[in-house]
Amino acid sequence: MLHGKRILLIISGGIAAYKSLDLIRRLRERGAAVRCVLTESATQFVTPLSVSALSEDRVYGDLFSLTDEAEMGHIQLSRDADLLVVAPATTNIMAKMAQGIGDDLATTVLLATDKDVLVAPSMNVRMWEHAATQANIATLRSRGIRFAGPTEGAMACGEFGEGRMAEPLEIVAEIETYFATSAPLAGRRAIVTSGPTLEAIDPVRYVANRSSGKQGHAIAAALAGMGAETVLVTGPTNEAAPAGVDVQQIESAQEMYDACMGALPADIAVCAAAVADWRPALQGDSKIKKAQGTAPPSIEMVENPDILRALSAAGNQRPALVVGFAAETDNLIDNATAKLARKECDWIIANDVSPETGTFGGDTNTVHLITATGAEDWPEMQKSDVADRLAERIAGHFDQTTEAAQ
Ligand code: CTP
Repeated sequence: MLHGKRILLIISGGIAAYKSLDLIRRLRERGAAVRCVLTESATQFVTPLSVSALSEDRVYGDLFSLTDEAEMGHIQLSRDADLLVVAPATTNIMAKMAQGIGDDLATTVLLATDKDVLVAPSMNVRMWEHAATQANIATLRSRGIRFAGPTEGAMACGEFGEGRMAEPLEIVAEIETYFATSAPLAGRRAIVTSGPTLEAIDPVRYVANRSSGKQGHAIAAALAGMGAETVLVTGPTNEAAPAGVDVQQIESAQEMYDACMGALPADIAVCAAAVADWRPALQGDSKIKKAQGTAPPSIEMVENPDILRALSAAGNQRPALVVGFAAETDNLIDNATAKLARKECDWIIANDVSPETGTFGGDTNTVHLITATGAEDWPEMQKSDVADRLAERIAGHFDQTTEAAQ
């Protein structure tokens, strides 16, 4: 259920912090990646060492740590997550959240995030029932913050009542429900193409290109992270299969075409693959021999199916949003705008792939989002950030179309 989901777990300083260690384990068992932020008071209850060992990641805590900020700034921490979970959430951290106070890393991340937040409160029953706490909770609920628990029961302080943190498995169930029903792209199906295609000349030789698959794989991961059921159709790459994604490995453009058509219907299609435009007309069953004194063979090429165009023209199976890439070396925006019309897709991500940009195979990308209403320039970003931003735009598009239909 949680394969590939990235959870940022904020542990604040309450006695129930010991349960968050089990929560990390339960989330990881289900395939989630868990990154943790500890408040200073949390470190009085659990050690960063245990949290780090269980999450198999480093633990963050210091807003003013130069190394932390250089390696992973507070903005990046929330950007890299699909959901923020605060467990345990003390009355203090909820008060800060309600007031918009950011005086440590945890509260600053909570202020800076645009991701959904789930809170698992934990406190003494009288603190829970206090008018100030209840007012803060009402404020947080009105802003869309989700709650898991608290439950009623015996407390560490010897009292009985409401305020006990929900059990780790109950919090896991809330998180699973979130991804199944409330995540921005829950219930949507996406097809993403990635990587190069290999076009056989004979059983041992082929024509290929330099696509690394980094951008396409990152897009599949980002869409899945937002709850979309994602099929990634990819040519051979060195990229790891994104967790939680149905990966279909292919070699040729024809195989990519067949896999994409077979994956319909879908709501979203993103074609990031560098599909070979042509393939050798004849793909012999035996290796072409280099006979002494003969001229090199010429290879006649025929055109491959255009997958992006075919998805855009798939009639009643056409995905509601079809996004293509335009890899160009000259006249970027003009060529990409013409490509949008020619391919009949909805959006084009235009990128300059001139050798000096280092885009092919590199980790960053400078792109322009071209829609029917014009071009929008995005700054140079990590390919994973381009993917996250695109996934957010896609989610926003479906939000708007749902609202318009209501
Ligand atoms: N594409 C595709 N199938 C093809 C060729 C391209 O799905 N046979 C998709 C790519 O995945 C990309 C978009 O079409 O999303 C544009 O690819 P690009 O190589 O830039 O364009 P071409 O159609 O090949 O046009 P040109 O070579 O003239 O630039």
